[in-house]
Amino acid sequence: MARVELHDIVKAYGNQRVVDGIDLVIEEGRFVVLLGPSGCGKTTTLRMIAGLEQVTAGEMYFDGRLMNHEPPERRGVGMVFQNYALYPHMTVADNLSFGLESQRGRGSRRKARAQVRARVLEIARLLEIDHVLDHRPKELSGGQRQRAALGRALVRDPDVFLLDEPLSNLDANLREKMRMELSRLHDELPVTTVYVTHDQGEALTLADQLVVMHEGKICQAGQPGDVYAKPGTAFVAGFLGSPGMNLWELRGPLWGEAAAAGGVHLSGEAWGDHVGGGASVVVGIRPEHLKLLPEGGPWPARVECRVDVVENLGSHVLVHAKLHGAGQRSLVAKLETSAGLRRGDRVAFSAHAEHVHLFDARTGARITERVARDRTSVDV
Ligand SMILES: Nc1ncnc2c1ncn2[C@@H]1O[C@H](COP(=O)(O)OP(=O)(O)OP(=O)(O)O)[C@@H](O)[C@H]1O
Ligand SMILES: [Mg+2]
Repeated sequence: MARVELHDIVKAYGNQRVVDGIDLVIEEGRFVVLLGPSGCGKTTTLRMIAGLEQVTAGEMYFDGRLMNHEPPERRGVGMVFQNYALYPHMTVADNLSFGLESQRGRGSRRKARAQVRARVLEIARLLEIDHVLDHRPKELSGGQRQRAALGRALVRDPDVFLLDEPLSNLDANLREKMRMELSRLHDELPVTTVYVTHDQGEALTLADQLVVMHEGKICQAGQPGDVYAKPGTAFVAGFLGSPGMNLWELRGPLWGEAAAAGGVHLSGEAWGDHVGGGASVVVGIRPEHLKLLPEGGPWPARVECRVDVVENLGSHVLVHAKLHGAGQRSLVAKLETSAGLRRGDRVAFSAHAEHVHLFDARTGARITERVARDRTSVDV
């Protein structure tokens, strides 16, 4: 196991910086997930850690040893790609042990072979593929094939385990099952792991530390629950969650009649003049935090809208609505029941102050903290 440190890592192709100054410390045995939209630099970052790409600038250390110029085979990394390739003509056991005998064991060849066989069996048991070791890849299910690919990386005892969207070839049910198994595997075999995905469900379930990337930069890193509860930027807020956070940009008066006319009404009582009566802010409320509001009441935020579509998803209901006033602003609320709502109904939603997020409209940075710190109590 190794502690991995990235200091101001840059990767440029021509004059395009596809990874643009990443700082990240991954403690030994941690499971870190890099999450972000397509093209944000996740795979490039992983390939630089593996040594498959040279870094353009910055330093990378494993356990304090500079890795910048170490070739991949000297880094002690195991990697599983999205399109993992097993050798089709070999059995699962041979796929797992391929090339290992020459590297392993001291003394006789026979001893080395026995050691490798024992290790293969141990990992196969852990992954529950020990009963298919004699099979060829085409005789395996998708999940078994995936586990064989994981096994091939794991039998090599990597110090750092790198996974690039390893589950994206699987159907939804199998993905969820494999997600749980990866989590169990990491508990039993806590290798320092960097896992790349753009599936936030996977990210939130698996990560000890979640790293959200956007355009080659890290926007936020932290425990998944914290990142979800307190997104540091409007981008992270909208990206995390299914559906993501509702975000509405407000310009001009933030409270009073004029503001209410735009559908989103912040109570000056709750927010004071911290964001300025005429500031530009982005107000964010997660779909699951929106509550139907009977009438009036001094709420910290109120959103007035007209129901568009009521989507019944069995365990919950998604209400899609159009905000009052000009513009095409919309809202999604996640409710337990449809509460008899129908298309065309005029309703108001609200949320508790702690669930109302404010972001700077220009920079996207979170500003709610400032409000919370300056005001000791907020009337709800
Ligand atoms: N060899 C290359 N030459 C030029 N540009 C490249 C090269 N490899 C990657 N890029 C560019 O770098 C950016 C980041 O690519 P990367 O593969 O790291 O994204 P990603 O976050 O893994 O995306 P995805 O979720 O789609 O896999 C993209 O804009 C891509 O086009
Ligand atoms: Mg990728």
